[in-house]
Amino acid sequence: MTVKNKVIVITGASSGIGEASAKLLAKHGAKVVLGARREARLQAIVKDIEAAGGTAAYQVTDVTKQADVAGLVKLAQTKFGGLDVIFNNAGIMPSSPISALHTDEWDAMVDINLKGVLHGVAAVMPIFTTQKHGQIITTFSVAGIKSFAGAGVYGATKFAVRNLMEVIRMESAEEDTNIRTASLYPAAINTELLHTITDKDTKQGMDAFYKQVGISPDAVANVVNFAVDQPEDVNVNEFTIYPTKQA
Ligand SMILES: NC(=O)c1ccc[n+]([C@@H]2O[C@H](COP(=O)([O-])OP(=O)(O)OC[C@H]3O[C@@H](n4cnc5c(N)ncnc54)[C@H](OP(=O)(O)O)[C@@H]3O)[C@@H](O)[C@H]2O)c1
Repeated sequence: MTVKNKVIVITGASSGIGEASAKLLAKHGAKVVLGARREARLQAIVKDIEAAGGTAAYQVTDVTKQADVAGLVKLAQTKFGGLDVIFNNAGIMPSSPISALHTDEWDAMVDINLKGVLHGVAAVMPIFTTQKHGQIITTFSVAGIKSFAGAGVYGATKFAVRNLMEVIRMESAEEDTNIRTASLYPAAINTELLHTITDKDTKQGMDAFYKQVGISPDAVANVVNFAVDQPEDVNVNEFTIYPTKQA
């Protein structure tokens, strides 16, 4: 089973990597179910996909709420008759030095980047283990494989999710449930992510850096499409996606 006709839930689908992936997967025949908080954006993206001949649905979803994520998964099942893939992509990156003590933002990153992914995993695990088929794709970051000053808590959430995904891969093999995983480590991708930075100095530095080297979210969407498109017995698992110009 390739991308065509797969039912794919995508969180953080209202902009950036999620939006680009939804559009590309739908173009290749997947039925995509979009979740995020901004309804007008989701509505417009679904309209674009349908106008291009694709199939999509959306539901307003806050990934910090388990019930919201479960509801999004339920929508996929009721509307499209099943579920093949969840793309846990929602995330924020309000980077700052630890000494600035933006503790509210630390909490928000843990709630969205880590607990949001756990909510996605919890919502699909009973379905995937029962049907012995499914794929969990998650967007981490290069900040989840090496440390960056200014990204202490952001990186901590991404390192944590990396461990989670590798354990899911191992346990799936042990339990013979055929759950495939794919872990994405993008570097500088031009999206709305930098809008979440409130620390002025950090934002200035990151804006300048992304302006210099950043690439389109389509680059990540292509990798998502590739991972979904693999045969059932092939688990392509880890991808870094760097701009060629980024050291
Ligand atoms: N851009 C990069 O350079 C880069 C690099 C490495 C990793 N990443 C990761 O890529 C993922 C996607 O980010 P992006 O770059 O595409 O940025 P983006 O354009 O800002 O997209 C982030 C998405 O997450 C959603 N989101 C945020 N909080 C949410 C919540 N509580 N519930 C549901 N959805 C929520 C946003 O939608 P709403 O605001 O509408 O809810 C939006 O759709 C993130 O996990 C990010 O950490 C990005």
